Amino acid sequence: MKKNQKRIAILTGGGDCPGINAVIRAVVKKAINEKGMEVIGIEDAYHGIIHNQYRKLTYDDVSGILTLGGTILGTSKTANPYHYAIKKGGKIEFQDRSNIVLKNIKRLDLSCLVCIGGDGTLGIAYRLFEDGVPIVGLPKTIDNDLRGTDITFGFDSAVSIATEGIDRIHTTAQSHHRVMIVEVMGHRAGWVALYSGVAGGGDIILIPEIPYDINIIAEKVKERNKRGRRFSIVVVAEGARPKGGDMVIQRIVRESSDPIRLGGIGFVLGKQIEKITGLETRTVVMGHLLRGGTPTPFDRILATGLGAKAVDMIEEKEFGYMVGVRGNSFVKVPLSDVAKGPKAVPLDHPMVKAARSLGTSFGD
Ligand code: F6P
Repeated sequence: MKKNQKRIAILTGGGDCPGINAVIRAVVKKAINEKGMEVIGIEDAYHGIIHNQYRKLTYDDVSGILTLGGTILGTSKTANPYHYAIKKGGKIEFQDRSNIVLKNIKRLDLSCLVCIGGDGTLGIAYRLFEDGVPIVGLPKTIDNDLRGTDITFGFDSAVSIATEGIDRIHTTAQSHHRVMIVEVMGHRAGWVALYSGVAGGGDIILIPEIPYDINIIAEKVKERNKRGRRFSIVVVAEGARPKGGDMVIQRIVRESSDPIRLGGIGFVLGKQIEKITGLETRTVVMGHLLRGGTPTPFDRILATGLGAKAVDMIEEKEFGYMVGVRGNSFVKVPLSDVAKGPKAVPLDHPMVKAARSLGTSFGD
């Protein structure tokens, strides 16, 4: 490192999504090109700091990655230094390894650690900030469930992929006179289901924020049939649940500090709808397809703007914040707000109201 040169590091944590490489590119290019900083890429989220796995990122390293899906740095959903999983003889033990992280960051002499992630990664970032690490966060998730920002990058791409899926399902549903259920990710929030459901013209949209009644869903399907619409499309968020009931858990990842993985509600619904209505029903789970591939132009633009703003904040020593979007502006969101937990779809969200006014059912 040259004398007086600032060194920053970047890591990507949590589930990957389209647009991560675009944001890495923006941070690295601007930090090198405009600010003359040195940039280090940490591998596999906080694991990389604990195990000293990192590499220098040059301007050329990030050339050509704008359109690339995934993350060139690797990621992890199990790397919480404050609750770090250690496998011992087939058993998992949790230890606090944050002192190693703090020591390694100090040794690297970082002016800033840029953490790109969702509420899990940025919650850890907030704890590190409280422990004295200069941090700037960037809002990444297909789920769009981060507080303090209108939108996260990755969301638009996921909605676009889900919508294409729903469009394709539409034609086969129509041809076979079937009920087709499309299950989409979103964790405990219904943003992806709501937006793709509206964009794809779903007849029934089920989100975690609005618990459903299976009989109301069946009635809607039957009523459509009576009107000669002999098919129906149900878009269901993986976290949707019946009134008074629970979400469907697909697996428990014990080494993760948020161990519950959702999925499978589409199959449960499919059986119930078929039984009550007597209509042939099929289920498609879009799952991780929503996280892969190239980002939409919107996400590329968003990621580029967010990454550039992050470098300005580093220069101004504005630490302990995530870069968020409000209206047409990039804003500083305290990490303490982001760490408060996920942002649900408000029940009076304009898109919920608009869909209802058109006759779309939310199963309630
Ligand atoms: O947070 C992103 C997300 O894709 C959620 O929508 C989903 O519930 C979860 O990650 C899936 O996690 P995993 O990659 O561990 O299967």
